[in-house]
Amino acid sequence: MLELDDIQSGVLRPRPTPYVATYILLRIDDRSAGRELMGRLCSVVSSSAHPQSPAAECWVSVSLTYAGLEALGVPRDSLDSFAWEFRQGMAARARALGDEGESSPEHWEWPLGTRDVHVILTALSPDQARLDAALARADEALRALGGVQILWRQACHALSTEREPFGFRDGISHPAVEGSGIPGSNPHEEPLKAGEFVLGYPDETGTPPPMPQPDVLGRNGTYIVFRKLHQRVAGFRQYLKDNARKPEDEELVAAKMMGRWRSGAPLALCPHHDDPALGADPRRNNDFHYADDPTGYKTPPGSHARRTNPRDASVAGVVRLHRMIRRGTAYGTELPEGVLEDDGADRGLMFAFIGSHLGRQFEFVQSEWINGGEFLGLGDAKDPVTGANDGTGEFAYPRRPIPRCLKGLPRFVVTRGGEYGFMPGLRALRWLADLRT
Ligand code: HEM
Repeated sequence: MLELDDIQSGVLRPRPTPYVATYILLRIDDRSAGRELMGRLCSVVSSSAHPQSPAAECWVSVSLTYAGLEALGVPRDSLDSFAWEFRQGMAARARALGDEGESSPEHWEWPLGTRDVHVILTALSPDQARLDAALARADEALRALGGVQILWRQACHALSTEREPFGFRDGISHPAVEGSGIPGSNPHEEPLKAGEFVLGYPDETGTPPPMPQPDVLGRNGTYIVFRKLHQRVAGFRQYLKDNARKPEDEELVAAKMMGRWRSGAPLALCPHHDDPALGADPRRNNDFHYADDPTGYKTPPGSHARRTNPRDASVAGVVRLHRMIRRGTAYGTELPEGVLEDDGADRGLMFAFIGSHLGRQFEFVQSEWINGGEFLGLGDAKDPVTGANDGTGEFAYPRRPIPRCLKGLPRFVVTRGGEYGFMPGLRALRWLADLRT
């Protein structure tokens, strides 16, 4: 049985729709103030058993970086028991993640990727007024507490289109987690073992994954990845225009790159034309697999959605070992429809991943499926939408009588920073608050 009342709600519960959100990064300057903060958060963070926040107006999640656990005085043998990717931190993993050139940590927004980031708070609410009121209270409480500094904030919100900034419906496909009671969106996918996403339970290999020690700290916790991903919306639109033979073709090219039409309708179910009603229907828009389309005439094997979850398509490796819970939120203003000139504004996605295995889940998908194609039989072709392309990349998609190859792929998504966090269970938060080392 999953101990839902000890697992933070952000791990298993999807965010509200519509939503507004704020990411807040904190530095702990004073150890006892940091511990006091952990104690106070125990009464603010809701569990997966009661997704409604105790304050009933916003859902708060808390995670700690490795430097944050050190700042709280977590004992050395315990620190050493955390996953090694987490101990290194995201900035140190830049090469493996394709965060090079303009995406490299030296260009990241301060304090992302530095040892100053200790605590990552996420507050989500269905409306701005309630979020603002909760944030004002939090600001006041932090000022009164002292010893803990707010370093950075990022406001996020659902766009008026309820799509991500490139214009695609997002947040459709998510796995079912055994014992969580939350259904997955793909009826063809068996629920995944809870240990894939929550520490302390058997995972798909049949044994529990390595868990930080002591048990009270690791159990019901998980790892989390935050990435601020800037999206070049004007550049994406211009690329579609340049590569479409006629205006109607633009939407087809976009769909081939994503694996879904912008409405969310999957190419697997409607390969020749969009079907907005299908795209909006949660009972049907993820009800498909790829085994009937091995070559990819409908959904290209190199498209973003198929390469990040090849489902039942034959690929080297076991797809179920690389599944992810995603929680993306958009930031920045919308680029008005039809505009092809970059207005210089910062817009994109705060990408969040949740899972027990940073290495074989997030890092594998990012490095081998997004920024590499070997495992998928695609040579060195990167993801056409989110890959670290450099203007020389190609995206080929099967087509009769001959395949089509789009050339000169630029980089549409630039990493502005990110962090690896550990999202403790609620008992573990209390344990951190009570540390006396
Ligand atoms: C700005 C960057 C990104 C954009 C705009 C984006 C957009 C999308 C969209 C529109 C979908 C289809 C809707 C859905 O199935 O929920 C999707 C699916 C997905 N994306 Fe991304 N994504 C981005 C980055 C990433 C990254 C960095 C990863 C992983 C490291 C990732 C992993 C996935 C996965 C696993 C799916 C679900 C595929 C499926 O189950 O069919 N995405 N993404």
